[in-house]
Amino acid sequence: MDHQTQVSQPFSPALHEQKVRAKTGGSLERWQRASRSLAGGVSSGLRRSAFPHPLYFTHGSGAKLYDVDGNEYLDYTLAWGPNILGNAPAEVVEAVRETIQNGLTFGAQHDLEYEVAEMLTQIIPCADRVCFANSGTEIVQVALRLARAATGRAKFLKFEGHYHGWDDSVLQSYHPSAEQLAAGNGAPISVGAGQIPAASTVVAQWNNPDSVREAFEKNPGEISAIICEPLLCNSGCIAPQLGFLEFLRDITTQNGALLIFDEVITGFRLGLAGAQGFYGITPDLATYAKAVGAGAPLSVLAGRQQYMELIESGKVVHAGTLNGNLIALSAARAALTFLMRDADAIYGNLFRRGERLRDGILSILREHGHQVCAAGEGPVFHLAFIAKQPRTYRDLLAADARAYRDFLLALQDEGVMPLPDGRWYLSTAHTDDDIDATLEAVRRATE
Ligand SMILES: Cc1ncc(COP(=O)(O)O)c(C=O)c1O
Repeated sequence: MDHQTQVSQPFSPALHEQKVRAKTGGSLERWQRASRSLAGGVSSGLRRSAFPHPLYFTHGSGAKLYDVDGNEYLDYTLAWGPNILGNAPAEVVEAVRETIQNGLTFGAQHDLEYEVAEMLTQIIPCADRVCFANSGTEIVQVALRLARAATGRAKFLKFEGHYHGWDDSVLQSYHPSAEQLAAGNGAPISVGAGQIPAASTVVAQWNNPDSVREAFEKNPGEISAIICEPLLCNSGCIAPQLGFLEFLRDITTQNGALLIFDEVITGFRLGLAGAQGFYGITPDLATYAKAVGAGAPLSVLAGRQQYMELIESGKVVHAGTLNGNLIALSAARAALTFLMRDADAIYGNLFRRGERLRDGILSILREHGHQVCAAGEGPVFHLAFIAKQPRTYRDLLAADARAYRDFLLALQDEGVMPLPDGRWYLSTAHTDDDIDATLEAVRRATE
């Protein structure tokens, strides 16, 4: 045992579990009822991991969420990212309400399509053209298909720990355990049963240029694209090391492959121009979902004309009954109008408040003897009980997941709700008072 290690204050998990259970009985009852008709009682598998049980909500407003038992929460989940303007933002709700008087979807053309497309091509660096779909999972598949068509190559490279939706080809080596990694010998590791063997997927390690070079050497002339989360939000918000994104830009160009940024999280969160603007690297293609619809189901592929032309000409199929529906595009137009109106002030506040929150939580936890690290930026950051800041997904495996779960439970008891995996999202609706109230709650949860 290392006697140098400071002894952490426990978060009294048994006490908090008892209190949380006592005040969320209505949610438990509903979840038990739902589980008799709805598989798992939830609509997306990850939500089942909620502890002690999934919560049921009645409504949200700005930075707050309310559950069926009347509990109020300061919301840092933002529906896993989309609610960049907070819950039920008036501009978006009004715009959708007004638009849908005329129809929910036409399956045909209307003015909102080019109006939103024009806004997107104006603000996204790589966007000569865009196209629409409904979810991040779908739009990533359009991007990968385009890369295969443009290069005539079947494979693509992704990184360990990166998430690009739940399609078979990309749901590989997402959160492998240390044992799986040791046994896997670098081969893609499927996440669940029933997935088609990943013959087209090549896996490398984030922030490790050698592993990328090696992948190109082992698959000469076969890799159509590298896809990555430019800030690794799905695994610890691990930033690209200095020069790593430039390296990816160069090695793809040298090898005749495309660079795809999956900006489903970073888009409209790290700034209007997303990670491309934030890091100053322009990919060939970029995918968006979550914040671009501000809560409505919209995803976007943005790309260089030489690639998007393949969709224009019909060589690459991009289809979808609900693509470009009025709900999604009226929400996007309202959200983008809001964000573009005073982008410098809006994003300045998001970063400033997020950093104040992140640094405040860190210092409270450290004052109480916890070994904790934070990574990411103000609008999306990640906390882990770990001695050293992770640089790769594998480093993150050393984090104490049990301590985070206990912390989370104590926070839930105090009315503060971040995501279960350590991620915290900020919206434009969070105020300085909300940050102060959250830090007070963190202090109580830690004592
Ligand atoms: C980076 C990234 N890409 C793709 C997806 C898939 O998006 P969706 O859940 O809308 O299918 C997600 C979802 O969390 C994501 O975080």
